[in-house]
Amino acid sequence: MKFYGKKQEEMLCYCMEVATDTVIDAIRAGHSSLEAIKVETAACTGDECATKNPSGKCCTKEIKALIALHSGVS
Ligand code: FES
Repeated sequence: MKFYGKKQEEMLCYCMEVATDTVIDAIRAGHSSLEAIKVETAACTGDECATKNPSGKCCTKEIKALIALHSGVS
């Protein structure tokens, strides 16, 4: 697993403390599936979404939206 540097930008995965820009960087580097993003950044691999994420939900939907936006893959 490769970790990208933690950035100060907007948080995407609160469980694993992965920023939105970190996920975008991984997508642009060719990791254009949810599974690839999990392996590459550890985003979406936590299990405390209900308490850590202000939305109370997992970050899966946000990651899929970023993949669609930045890779053209839906
Ligand atoms: S918010 Fe990403 S795994 Fe919980």
